Amino acid sequence: MRGEVNSMSAKWKVAIIGPGGIASGAHIPHYMSDPRTEVVAVCSYTEETALSAAKAFDIKNSFTDVDDMLKTIEPDLVSVCNPNAFHHDAVVKSLKAGCHVLCEKPPATSPLEAMEMERTAKETGKHLLYAFNHRHNLETKVLKRAIESGELGTIYHMNVTAMRRRGIPGWGVFTNKELQGGGPLIDIGVHMLDLAMYLSGFPKPVEVMGATHQRLGKKPGVGLLGNWDPQDYTVEDLATGMIRFEHGLTMNLTASYAANIRKDEHLNVELLGDKGGAETDPFTIYQEKYGSLFNMEPAYLEQTDTRDSYERQIVHFLDVVDKKTRPIITPGQGTMIQQIVEALYTSAKSRQVVRLSE
Ligand SMILES: NC(=O)c1ccc[n+]([C@@H]2O[C@H](COP(=O)([O-])OP(=O)(O)OC[C@H]3O[C@@H](n4cnc5c(N)ncnc54)[C@H](O)[C@@H]3O)[C@@H](O)[C@H]2O)c1
Repeated sequence: MRGEVNSMSAKWKVAIIGPGGIASGAHIPHYMSDPRTEVVAVCSYTEETALSAAKAFDIKNSFTDVDDMLKTIEPDLVSVCNPNAFHHDAVVKSLKAGCHVLCEKPPATSPLEAMEMERTAKETGKHLLYAFNHRHNLETKVLKRAIESGELGTIYHMNVTAMRRRGIPGWGVFTNKELQGGGPLIDIGVHMLDLAMYLSGFPKPVEVMGATHQRLGKKPGVGLLGNWDPQDYTVEDLATGMIRFEHGLTMNLTASYAANIRKDEHLNVELLGDKGGAETDPFTIYQEKYGSLFNMEPAYLEQTDTRDSYERQIVHFLDVVDKKTRPIITPGQGTMIQQIVEALYTSAKSRQVVRLSE
């Protein structure tokens, strides 16, 4: 049966849809270094990009059509790494073809798409994991354990930061609203939003207020992540918002591709609880004890596991398929993230608070 390890020698066949930056830098090499898998096909939107990726990694088959690839190769596993607007189509088709899927973040460009992806995973009984790789950071693992053992008490506020000083991506389609669904909020903000939601146990969002700005992206300027075309810049360069969750928990979120700030990049989740606080970068737990204030920092974190979060993510996906572990993320959580992102954009556009549920 596909998706099962059925013999000592059989390897799972992996296909990559969208063999660009993240596929080449993370998915393909980490599948290649795992003895359970063989990357047998890549699928891109042009023959040239498909062939060049296949050649670069010595992968036997290249395609320009997802249906054709799924029918011809019958992969067991698919990594979906194309621009956000194409995630939904690739994921739904792959699940329906009987594949387990690891889809890059964000899940999609709208909650409706994410819901259909979630429903298809349920109907087909196949795994659908989203590549929120920060969940696999060692800091996250330790902090999650600390939160679950009550170190922070009740968390009542979160500050979510995904700020870049001049980090408009100079490659791909990250500045194209139609193909990505938005700018820094849906691209890097979504990573930290997911991390905060994961650490706080996925509270139910009730009300969302958002605002977006487009001040620097439309003008030529310094590019620390390559050069972009200001003429084609159709996304926000800064997004901010406040989210109120059930039981009174609140979140402030700010994400930028470009802003006049000191740090080139700062990705951080800060959690404020009534017994302690914490942040992920630099990873610290703050507490009041013995009549004093403490900053608790790990001494040996990186030395305990030298793999990066991308490698751990691929191994986790394979372990889930291998029935060695339960998925760290569910398709429903991906849908909720997508709902919050859309509510922030809707609120920004309408200048009204968006109510989600009570
Ligand atoms: N988890 C992470 O940290 C992380 C990092 C980077 C990107 N990503 C996600 O991965 C996805 C791809 O990002 P990337 O940096 O690899 O982008 P990229 O531009 O380098 O690669 C995208 C690939 O998608 C394919 N594609 C299909 N249709 C296309 C079209 N119309 N235009 C351009 N390419 C098209 C191409 O094969 C292309 O190589 C995005 O969803 C992004 O959010 C995640």
